[in-house]
Amino acid sequence: MATNVLIAFYSRNGSTEALAKAIAEGAEAGGAEVRLRRARELVGADVIGSVPGWKDSMDRQNALYAAPTPEDAEWADAIVFGSPTRFGIVSSELKAYIDSLGGLWFGGKLFNKAGAAFGATASAHGGAESTLLGLFAAMSHLGLVIVPNGYGDPITFQGGTPYGSHTAVDGQYVKTPADADLAVAKYQGARVAKVAAVLKPLRG
Ligand SMILES: Cc1cc2nc3c(=O)[nH]c(=O)nc-3n(C[C@H](O)[C@H](O)[C@H](O)COP(=O)(O)O)c2cc1C
Repeated sequence: MATNVLIAFYSRNGSTEALAKAIAEGAEAGGAEVRLRRARELVGADVIGSVPGWKDSMDRQNALYAAPTPEDAEWADAIVFGSPTRFGIVSSELKAYIDSLGGLWFGGKLFNKAGAAFGATASAHGGAESTLLGLFAAMSHLGLVIVPNGYGDPITFQGGTPYGSHTAVDGQYVKTPADADLAVAKYQGARVAKVAAVLKPLRG
């Protein structure tokens, strides 16, 4: 049976989305089945319309990716959370999805699934690590077995972080993450799927 990988992300400008796609590629290359899901905006059309490019990017992505649901998390053997950094922490859009998992948490339904994190900032030291580590805290509460990137592949010395994939690219101005960041994301997808497969028997 295939390993199921849920990649639940929020992205406004496309940087986090690009990493999500690379993580999916890495997981699928190893035979995993992937659901790519984009958390939805929490603000109204007036706010979205006041930021150049936001609506177009939102419409484009929403046509490609369904919104994540608790059922997706229940289906998954691995849950990979991705978010742009917002003032050093996770975006409210992804956080709202994580908060929707309360029922599954209460029922112990996510315990011993694999968990991993990735994200994007505009600047190299703009809070990538605090964002990823913040996601680790939520994963601990959910009982996920946290799978960091570590330095298990030479590419990890060139991009990302030891905690998870990351790119310091602001999609509004520079559209594409560095090749090394995308390669790290592929590595992450492959790694988390492999670990998730090993964890399956723990859940009976
Ligand atoms: C409200 C807000 C807060 C942000 N806070 C930070 C921050 O703390 N550090 C940083 O480097 N970038 C920050 N950014 C920039 C985004 O994290 C950055 O543009 C990211 O690459 C966007 O990812 P996306 O292309 O997937 O939307 C912020 C952006 C917004 C709108």
